[in-house]
Amino acid sequence: MQLLGPSVTSAHAGNVKARLLEIDAGLFVRNFDRAPFLIRHDLCDHPLFSLPRLLKLAATLPASLVEYNAGELPLTQDPRLTPRNGLSVEDTICRIAECRSWMVLKNVEMDPQYGELLRECLDEVRVHCEPRWPGMQQPEGFIFLTSPGSVTPYHMDPEHNFLMQIRGSKTIHQFNGRDREVLSEQELEEYLSGGHRNLTFKEEFRSHSWVFELQPGLGLHFPATFPHYVQNGPEVSVSFSITFRTPDLERRHMVHQFNARMRQRGWSPAPVGRHPCRDAVKCFLFRLGRRMRRMLGRTGSPEHGY
Ligand SMILES: [Fe+2]
Repeated sequence: MQLLGPSVTSAHAGNVKARLLEIDAGLFVRNFDRAPFLIRHDLCDHPLFSLPRLLKLAATLPASLVEYNAGELPLTQDPRLTPRNGLSVEDTICRIAECRSWMVLKNVEMDPQYGELLRECLDEVRVHCEPRWPGMQQPEGFIFLTSPGSVTPYHMDPEHNFLMQIRGSKTIHQFNGRDREVLSEQELEEYLSGGHRNLTFKEEFRSHSWVFELQPGLGLHFPATFPHYVQNGPEVSVSFSITFRTPDLERRHMVHQFNARMRQRGWSPAPVGRHPCRDAVKCFLFRLGRRMRRMLGRTGSPEHGY
């Protein structure tokens, strides 16, 4: 499988606006939402990713959107027992080179400058996405700041994602989330019904992973809910994650959530995708149920994972 397309020349001359991303159109059509693939980007020297600017961003985001903890974790991490690093947000950023920590700044689009950058990047993704996966929605940006040697435990995330490496390096192990031996229907259902992103790593699947050495200037596609874990390189790492959803992804997730409720009631629902007509009915019933729950003031959705 080809993982990185040929280099595409960016337009830097005159008043032509430079492109931020270089995406191989054929790779995108073949692999999007089905397998990881690499892209290139031109964001490494962008001033929004300097540590002083990230410090300012962290200070303006609500505390609920800044998550951080100790960075050297096992691949299987009970989320209730994730160790803290004992530092403030500010100290974690200022001492990231030596404080052995992992931090994510969530929904950075709340800051207008980051919001504009996210929009520009996703506009370039949309060109490739729209013809086959129309309706890009819920754009969200996340910035990861990690100490040398940090490990992000085995987990999955709910949305289409491109992770751009800005500074430092990462080794990323990704697993096929469509292989039900790797990720069961029940694990998907539990996560999409509000469970934590962290998963139990199964050692026997280690050799089945795609492995990517992500260097500055490279970006990697993560199909939604494909499990992965990340090993940071020997330097401070800064990564920018641009994410979005599509109506077809949302429909799939709704059927998983409907199946979860069937399973709770003792049924054995058919896997998503086996019976498209049945899936459409489940989707309709799920939307109906959700509308009723909202009318009654009860909601629930999965958290963002990384
Ligand atoms: Fe992730």
